Amino acid sequence: MIPDKTPVGGDTFHGAADLAQRAHVLSFQKYKELYLQSVQSPQEFWGKIAKEFYWKTPQTGSFLDYNFDHTKGKIYIKLMEGATTNICYNLLDRNVYDKKLGDKIAFYWEGNEPGDSMEITYKDLLQQVCKFANVLRAQGVKKGDRISIYMPMIMELVVAMLACARIGAVHSIVFAGFSSESLCERIMDSCCTFIVAADGFYRGDKLINLKLVVDEALRKCRERDFQVSKCIVVKHLGGTEETCADETSTNPQSPPAKRSCQIPWDANVDVWWHELVKGASDECEPEWCDTEDPLFILYTSGSTGKPKGVLHTIGGYLLYTATTFKYVFNYQPDDVYWCTADIGWVTGHSYVTYAPLANGATSVMFEGLPTYPDSSRFWEIIDKYKVTTFYTAPTAIRLLMKYGDGPVKRFSRQSLKILGTVGEPINPEAWHWYYKVIGNGRCPIMDTFWQTETGGHMLTPLPVAIPLKPGSATFPFFGVVPAILNESGEELEGEAEGYLVFKKPWPSIMRTVYGNQERFEDTYFKKFPGYFVTGDGCKRDKDGYYWITGRIDDMLNVSGHLLSTAEVESALIEHPAIAEAAVVSHPHPVKGECLYCFVTLRDGHEFTKTLVTELKNQVREKISPIATPDYIQNAPGLPKTRSGKIMRRILRKIARNEKDLGDISTLADESVVTELVSNRCKTT
Ligand code: WT7
Repeated sequence: MIPDKTPVGGDTFHGAADLAQRAHVLSFQKYKELYLQSVQSPQEFWGKIAKEFYWKTPQTGSFLDYNFDHTKGKIYIKLMEGATTNICYNLLDRNVYDKKLGDKIAFYWEGNEPGDSMEITYKDLLQQVCKFANVLRAQGVKKGDRISIYMPMIMELVVAMLACARIGAVHSIVFAGFSSESLCERIMDSCCTFIVAADGFYRGDKLINLKLVVDEALRKCRERDFQVSKCIVVKHLGGTEETCADETSTNPQSPPAKRSCQIPWDANVDVWWHELVKGASDECEPEWCDTEDPLFILYTSGSTGKPKGVLHTIGGYLLYTATTFKYVFNYQPDDVYWCTADIGWVTGHSYVTYAPLANGATSVMFEGLPTYPDSSRFWEIIDKYKVTTFYTAPTAIRLLMKYGDGPVKRFSRQSLKILGTVGEPINPEAWHWYYKVIGNGRCPIMDTFWQTETGGHMLTPLPVAIPLKPGSATFPFFGVVPAILNESGEELEGEAEGYLVFKKPWPSIMRTVYGNQERFEDTYFKKFPGYFVTGDGCKRDKDGYYWITGRIDDMLNVSGHLLSTAEVESALIEHPAIAEAAVVSHPHPVKGECLYCFVTLRDGHEFTKTLVTELKNQVREKISPIATPDYIQNAPGLPKTRSGKIMRRILRKIARNEKDLGDISTLADESVVTELVSNRCKTT
């Protein structure tokens, strides 16, 4: 499957020669050797890596036990049976005490406003985490309890998640851009007893009053008979309860008006973070957990519309994220690493928090936007902290590409060694701009394909060892066994295109959908028994390179974030004027994909501009701003089969203004198509 010789050809890029001296994997042959070992003797391969971490008690049973075939019984994955550990201990105490990294910077934090920054060492981070872990314990939080975290990109977010991990509580982080409805749904699905939040934050020059959203979500929870015990609030903007605070800013450069924020306060539920941690001890004995105990729940869109709580466990997640980080970014102790993802997404969980800390790395954590105060912010930050490894998303690259090379050239970016991308297929134009302009043609691009469900990188190049092809995630990481299947579930060899699946578990595979094992099995294992189904289409070329072709289920990828057509449709249908809705994906120059919606009105309603605005707002409020539709078209009728199934394939073509709509003979009423074609929205 993996070629014996290094693939060569006009379309391969190696990146910088000077990297080679310090590469963890020196050649393609070496990669292949390690890869074969990882899949043929996983116990030996991962066992060696596990030795670098701390286990309170060793593995007593088998290294890996699993069932991927639902026809043979329950799907399960168990790693390192009997071993106990604590991931927070491995990230912090081990680095401070065993590796003597206490004074090393763990994070350079860069705020939304330039000039608003701080740094924190491993030792200080450990102390803060211990304090907050003690607070949680004092509040009655126990091992296994779920804690919802709804915060901007501030240091307390990392502290809160690691404090949960320290006491064996399960964090469920909800991206701070999600609506109150989405937050409520997530709190209730995992029965979170506590929520940790912040008063508010700035995204560019826009004030987000986060606490108002939290209150709204908690009100919705109460209406549905669910009550969280406490809401712990970080004073990030410096507001006071129920009043509009004035200048309490710690940042002299920010205008006073920008720092005020009104905070409603319910003394029965709300408590300030700083008041709780004030007297807390900075020593806290970790809770020793089974490797298979849950670490976190993270919600991802599901094709039925209801988000799925992806559950990850401790040991395998630690091993796999730490190892991918080390090899994919060729981690060296003097690196400064920056992943621009928000911790609210899996990229931020794995590659802002867990993996860099597990490696004792120094990272940049950024609260703001790539375009604030102007479009050179990223490059300015790279020079400021001398970032060596930069990991971002194609949508950010395309956005910044629009501003031309000027804003980039104002900064040297000389420190950069390795670039990374994640979230969606990267188009060749963006790849080349990233490579030539951002990386000055010196830095290889690691196009990492993975998912919330996989916990870490699955298909990815390795610097130096694997020649790059723009747009290809290249080859499987250690321990990953991909296959391409056709519709009847047969494995395709050589050059092929079909469904991307994985044949064996890797350490950080999700263990279940929280509270819904059946949905776990249905979503990932039913279609092709014996395989984990990714939901992505994939091509393998003549050199064995993998190319992700995009989702093949009813999911959309907007700016690297997955949305299901069903969840947007149900948000639209909740509007009193809407009888029926169908949502399809449409190409977008920056977001990659955007939403094109067809809506059928109820009798007595008119299709007006106001209605379109109302519908867009409704989706934004029900789900999040990311889900806001770009186009909404009036559809007096929708193309349906005789059995009533909406034919989205035809709608997609109508939206794209394609002349050939394919076979429409199975439609119950062909005339609806003509009407839709004549009414289509003008798209860019
Ligand atoms: C889906 C997973 C993994 C963290 C961010 C998204 C798409 C992800 C790539 C890539 C092509 C990619 C896939 C995948 N995707 N990375 N390098 N090339 N497609 O996590 O929200 O779980 O989305 O993102 O479609 O299934 P997620």
